Amino acid sequence: GTFGQRNHQKSVTSYSTNVSSKLKIMQKKETDIVIIGTGLAGLALAKYISEQNPNLQITLLSKTSIDECNTYYAQGGIAVVHDFIKDSYQQHIEDTLLAGKGICDKKVVEHVITEAPARLEKLIQWGVELDKNNSGDLDLGLEGGHSQNRIVHHKDKTGLEIETKLIQVVQKLANVTIKTSFFATDLLLENQKCIGIIGFDSKSEVTAIVAKATVLATGGSGQVFDVTSNPFVSTGDGVAMAHRAGAKLNKMKYIQFHPTALYEPDKSQAFLITEAIRGFGAHILNHKMERFVFQYHPDGELATRDIVSKAISDQMKKENFKLVWLDVRHLPSETFKTKFPKVYTYCSKNGIDVSKDLIPIAPAAHYQCGGIVVDEIGATSIQQLYAIGECSYTGLHGANRLASNSLLEAIVYAHDLAKNLVVNIDVIKNSTAKLTPIYYKNIYHDEILQFRNQLQHFMKYDSLYSNNKKTEKVFEMVNEMSKEFNIKFKKYNSHPFLCETYNLIQTAEIILKDSLPKRNRIKSAKKDKTTP
Ligand code: FAD
Ligand code: SIN
Repeated sequence: GTFGQRNHQKSVTSYSTNVSSKLKIMQKKETDIVIIGTGLAGLALAKYISEQNPNLQITLLSKTSIDECNTYYAQGGIAVVHDFIKDSYQQHIEDTLLAGKGICDKKVVEHVITEAPARLEKLIQWGVELDKNNSGDLDLGLEGGHSQNRIVHHKDKTGLEIETKLIQVVQKLANVTIKTSFFATDLLLENQKCIGIIGFDSKSEVTAIVAKATVLATGGSGQVFDVTSNPFVSTGDGVAMAHRAGAKLNKMKYIQFHPTALYEPDKSQAFLITEAIRGFGAHILNHKMERFVFQYHPDGELATRDIVSKAISDQMKKENFKLVWLDVRHLPSETFKTKFPKVYTYCSKNGIDVSKDLIPIAPAAHYQCGGIVVDEIGATSIQQLYAIGECSYTGLHGANRLASNSLLEAIVYAHDLAKNLVVNIDVIKNSTAKLTPIYYKNIYHDEILQFRNQLQHFMKYDSLYSNNKKTEKVFEMVNEMSKEFNIKFKKYNSHPFLCETYNLIQTAEIILKDSLPKRNRIKSAKKDKTTP
């Protein structure tokens, strides 16, 4: 990355553990709006607000470096209807509803999809460069579940392009204070309103940030799982924080597995092989060199992700292998190199010549379709608390997100929330409540890491998608682990790594509980009063 160190090994943490003092005097800062997260959702929100009211003070927080987030790694692109001769909003809406298996909120789907061209124009205005075709118009890629080519992209590094350009834009804003390596542990509540956050700054100083509006833009939770395409920072912190504060969550069981991550068993983040490559004609093969996905759906490799991941998972069991193959050998190799340089280079560096070799792949936890329940402007069930981007549940994705609809959702809600906040924030005053400090404590890193590794070992595709018995069993195990964790570390919020690990465990519990058949959910709620 351009901005900081990346951590890829499970045993590496990004938080300093060398602070020895026990008690810290709590710093208290005031701002108008605190945004937790510097992915597309957080950055675009800061920019949109500043364009409309540059006098509003915004504090923007990032857990590690400014650019380390899911957005940075996005490959395929953004789904936008652009060619109104071949394509239409109606088709994009139908594709989205179909992928979501009947539980999307239709009004939300219509809104997000019809807003897309305007939001795209803004991204381009902010400096984001997108690939053009030979006639100089935007080049439109194809991905699974889309009935038309409608994915705008910057080669296979769309996220990197968006993230770096938006960082440049936001860093120029005088009213925005960016704090990196700031770990938000919890939301601050007063009379059932959210009045800001508390956490540890880059020097591990306990810091409270009091604000008139608090926005969670904390991204996903892929790190809950054994294999994931998400980076080290995607640990469900926003969902866990919101849950502890009593905010409503929904549809957390719908964790989307991306069918084609590179098989990299030792990496905490598996490298993604973009679905756009299947849109370009790649095949998925089993060990008998058969294209087996057609047995599951007439669209084969371009069926929606839930279907392709299921097909691969079944096939891996049948053949007793931990991987299947992606075959691009029949595709024009020069064009492949130009269109997908990130994938090409990564594969080459790992000894895979994609023009001759098959690419080993397996599904990876990729996207949290559910999340913190929000209304049409991103307001949660707690006053003065908002959520946008992957941590939120808007109703757009239903049970399964259509490819490249999530960057779109992030930018549309950033826009809509900004418009609303600039009008309504003046009537709110910052809280003057006396705040209870938290304490920083040194930790034994390895002891906590053991819990993480154990959790990730429990949390696999099959834990959610094989059968109820399996899910029940994993739920019980995670529940036990959670109890043990609570006994061992009473103050989960006394160190970033400790708190983050607790967030992972809590998020896993939430996902599993939501996956249980209804009767068990009631039973488990009665049995276990300690589960939040
Ligand atoms: P993120 O970009 O993940 O940002 C989260 C931010 O929150 C980070 O800055 C992080 O530091 C901060 N944060 C989290 N917890 C805390 C805390 N406790 N304290 C302080 N800060 C915190 N979607 C598409 O539409 N098209 C694609 O092509 C595409 N490709 C993808 C490829 C990969 C490999 C991955 C992983 C995802 C892809 N997605 C894609 C999904 C999409 O990238 C994400 O859903 C989207 O970027 C989420 O943006 P966000 O702003 O909500 O969160
Ligand atoms: C990909 O490029 O395959 C990811 C697209 C997405 O997650 O929407």
